[in-house]
Amino acid sequence: MKKTIVVACSLLSMTAGFAQTKTSADAKMNSFVTSLMGKMTTEEKIGQLNLVTPGGTVTGSVVSTDVDNKIRKGQVGGLFGITGPDKIRKAQEIAVNNSRLHIPLIFGLDVIHGHRTIFPIPLGLSASWDMPMIERSAQIAAQEATADGLSWVYSPMVDIARDPRWGRIAEGSGEDVYLGSQIAKAMVKGYQGNAYDGKSVMACVKHYALYGAAEAGRDYNTTDMSRIKMFEYYLPPYKAAIDAGVGSVMSSFNEVDAVPATANKWLMTDLLRKQWGFKGFVVTDYTAINEMIDHGIGDLKRVSAEALKAGIDMDMVGEGFLNTLSQSLKEGKVTIQQINEACKRVLEAKYKLGLFEDPYRYCDEKRFANEILTDDSRKAAREFAARSMVLLKNSNNVLPLQKKGTVALIGPLADNQRNMLGTWSVSGDFAKSITMLQGIKNVAGNDVKVVYAKGCNISDDSVFAKKVNAFGTEIDIDKRSPQEMIDEAIRAAQQSDVVVAILGEAADMTGEASSMSDISLQPSQKRLLRALKATGKPVVLVLMSGRPMTIVEENDNMDAILEAWFPGTEAGNAVADVLFGNYNPSGKITASFPRNVGQIPVYYNYKNTGRPYHGGPTKFRSDYLDVSNDPLYPFGYGLSYTSFSYGDVRISKLNPKGNETLTATVSVSNTGKYAGEEVVQLYITDPVATVTRAVKDLKGFQKIKLQPGETKEVTFKITTEELKFYNTDLKYDWEAGDFIIQVGGNSRDTKSAKVNWSK
Ligand code: NOJ
Repeated sequence: MKKTIVVACSLLSMTAGFAQTKTSADAKMNSFVTSLMGKMTTEEKIGQLNLVTPGGTVTGSVVSTDVDNKIRKGQVGGLFGITGPDKIRKAQEIAVNNSRLHIPLIFGLDVIHGHRTIFPIPLGLSASWDMPMIERSAQIAAQEATADGLSWVYSPMVDIARDPRWGRIAEGSGEDVYLGSQIAKAMVKGYQGNAYDGKSVMACVKHYALYGAAEAGRDYNTTDMSRIKMFEYYLPPYKAAIDAGVGSVMSSFNEVDAVPATANKWLMTDLLRKQWGFKGFVVTDYTAINEMIDHGIGDLKRVSAEALKAGIDMDMVGEGFLNTLSQSLKEGKVTIQQINEACKRVLEAKYKLGLFEDPYRYCDEKRFANEILTDDSRKAAREFAARSMVLLKNSNNVLPLQKKGTVALIGPLADNQRNMLGTWSVSGDFAKSITMLQGIKNVAGNDVKVVYAKGCNISDDSVFAKKVNAFGTEIDIDKRSPQEMIDEAIRAAQQSDVVVAILGEAADMTGEASSMSDISLQPSQKRLLRALKATGKPVVLVLMSGRPMTIVEENDNMDAILEAWFPGTEAGNAVADVLFGNYNPSGKITASFPRNVGQIPVYYNYKNTGRPYHGGPTKFRSDYLDVSNDPLYPFGYGLSYTSFSYGDVRISKLNPKGNETLTATVSVSNTGKYAGEEVVQLYITDPVATVTRAVKDLKGFQKIKLQPGETKEVTFKITTEELKFYNTDLKYDWEAGDFIIQVGGNSRDTKSAKVNWSK
């Protein structure tokens, strides 16, 4: 007892100490910024709200012009799209030496899944369900970014996506709100650390809000949903990032409740700042203010004023603020307080990053030389990539491959550096990436003979290829005819013991503006796979994709399927590590794989409806005539080279009351031959409530490692927090009654127990 008191007291004094330090730091910042703003003209204040790009990362039609001059005139608050301590120093020197008040610029960039060392795409990272690893990936990215002159990154992207047609599903963490929120938190922690110490960056959570719910999966399309759905399934990851202390927020392109997010005061001020207590600054997405003209909100002057009034602080690229706010101020359309507020928030961000103290804090040439693409970061990239892969099928234990015999390595992605990094790897150098062919040679050893053939083009469609190749030749259409390539592949297969086909998407078949209405393999690739199958050799499909694809035919015909996503710089080594069993796959998909496009959206936490389908040829139930309701692979699914068995769910108390805490425990055993990791998942169903609830929701998970024959007890703590939901008054609370507690290795195959929880 005595001991407890001592600990509690010391904790209290520590917290009080922190609070005091924070308050005095805040007071110092406040007085610095207030005094600086006292010297600024209105024009200079508006200048701070202007974020420009001289090129580099261009995701729209406008690029800023006359940038140097604008910096001199105090018309620029930040720059994005340039990297390198030398270039950034030069730009910073213009601001610091030549602008009237010497205010430093903030330098940002899209650092999404690694900076120079590229990790798997975020959808892949999420499939690891490994929070320390994801946090570490952000930390390494921050270290490289700060060594490269940057202090601000446009990540994490936390948009929940239930539609794999949407190309940007690759950039997020899939369909689940609970997992998405955990990842949002881990990434903010990884990027920002505990303090901006020069090696951490300010994160920017995006795209606030609901961007992932674009109708029909078409990028930039309208979103429209009930408030309950918003609060329950789409908003929590942004909130998790805010709670984790994220320094900035990016507004989304889409509308929310019929008002574009960028002019949506409810979203930007009432919810974000007043309800959630966000204290950082909000930047728009690329020309999002200007795009409100096309949304039908008004001319540039009007949309810029609406954005400022809604709570936007910084205008990315479009210069609507720069060119119209003074006039709007004169006309009384905006107030000086609104301009002051925005300016203050931008200056505070610079202050927190230490830029006033040392504008060149992130311009260290030595760090640039020593801390980028190091052996350690490449090692991490290899490990993270292996941990992100998901084994979707493995009949007759064809995997892992033996380190002997002949392997036919087939496919347009097999000897292809260009496509290993995936979308949004703007600072990654694909020439530094390891191909599958190289990786397999590195890992398999001298007893394996590898016979390579391209086999087909990623796509034979030259018009499609031209669109995908906007940033360079990712789809390279061979001079040989498709039949010649297939023939060569068949000859290679015939000489081999096993065929490994590396197929899927080119890097920019997902990502921004890369939505697809057909998410199956391209016809050229399907033809190749059929021909390979016809040789009678076992065929392993390594699928590279930035989205769940529709692969029913491949699931029926291939012996094994490994989802490798876009693995990043160390792609080939990591895939080979998994294929040859140096690493036993442990990833679990975080977005359901539909059987066909007509099923979309298909996600695990759907609602029952009044006519749920329970199988059989019954009429008048909620189903399809031509396809099952179930996805091909459910959320949370993924195999291992070993097997796991789950015992029954044991609940500590079947009739809890009020705010009691329960535990749900299962025994998980490794019943196979290999050591392996398993993601043990907890789902809860609330069968009766005043509003309809999903059939189940993820409420916890643990990733455990088991040796062959080993059993571990996995215990989840359950409180009434896990039972809460939003009712029609948007009140977040729980209701008494029965709850089904489920634990399993994916969202479909669970063991369950029932509790009755009373108030
Ligand atoms: C547009 C994208 O939507 C956003 O994610 C990105 O951060 C900006 N462009 C800046 O490149």
